[in-house]
Amino acid sequence: MRTNLFYFTGTGNSLKLARELATELSGAKVISIAKAIKEEIDTSPEWIGLVFPVYAFNAPVIVKDFISKLDNIRDKYIFAVANCAKIAGDVLGEVETGLKKKGAKLSAGFIVKMPGNYTVLYGAIPDEKQEKVFTEARKKIKQIAEIVKNKNKEPLSRPKLPLRGASLLIRHFFGREKIYREDKKFVSTDKCISCGTCVKVCPVDNVSLSKEKRPVWHHRCQQCFACFQWCPQEAIECGRSTIGRRRYHHPDITCLDIIKSH
Ligand SMILES: Cc1cc2nc3c(=O)[nH]c(=O)nc-3n(C[C@H](O)[C@H](O)[C@H](O)COP(=O)(O)O)c2cc1C
Repeated sequence: MRTNLFYFTGTGNSLKLARELATELSGAKVISIAKAIKEEIDTSPEWIGLVFPVYAFNAPVIVKDFISKLDNIRDKYIFAVANCAKIAGDVLGEVETGLKKKGAKLSAGFIVKMPGNYTVLYGAIPDEKQEKVFTEARKKIKQIAEIVKNKNKEPLSRPKLPLRGASLLIRHFFGREKIYREDKKFVSTDKCISCGTCVKVCPVDNVSLSKEKRPVWHHRCQQCFACFQWCPQEAIECGRSTIGRRRYHHPDITCLDIIKSH
């Protein structure tokens, strides 16, 4: 079956899920959204999948932008796999709305739980707990693959009204510009060895090195936390709450995988 699986990732969870799904859907191509959005997007396959993380009960800005750039998708089987630590909010409703504007439908939408990477609120969970989450996610991916293969239409699991409202409010108050500028909370500490990993892993070229060879953020941040999580020295903090907290990235995904994603 010809499938294009488009993913966006900061810490590798979405890439891992996209790869697992591609194995189940033999022949699926795994394509980075950060790369594809800069080029002509290939929507020729009959199946189109979107795999991405949930940010504050919503989809990342780049994923919404990507959807708005999709053409010739009216008759396609489009499915979404949003992944998050705990609460997805109304992310699938948001994707559905975006696709509707393009005259298309979200045929099926799924939420998969993965380890959280929002270190501002919590440190990475212990390895054994991560393994349990991965096992559940693998099971879910197999189920998703069966549904997708058969082109089954799945009623979207939308949250109850209060959570829908919360998603909407966050969307309203945290618009694109506000999210882009959230990077002003990132700082590099004296642990920085000027290796430039933060520059290389950023999916939207938002980080450069200053004359003093320290990272500078340019206010077009997606909030993916790649710069923060992949820093080999743990020399980036986001406010004070991240100090001393365990970092996270998916154990099967390498820094090079992330660099190659854009
Ligand atoms: C800025 C930010 C906001 C997040 N918001 C949520 C959220 O609202 N609900 C949730 O359950 N997880 C949330 N997460 C956790 C991620 O959705 C989750 O860890 C995801 O699997 C990361 O995917 P990735 O490794 O492909 O980047 C958030 C993470 C970040 C960085």
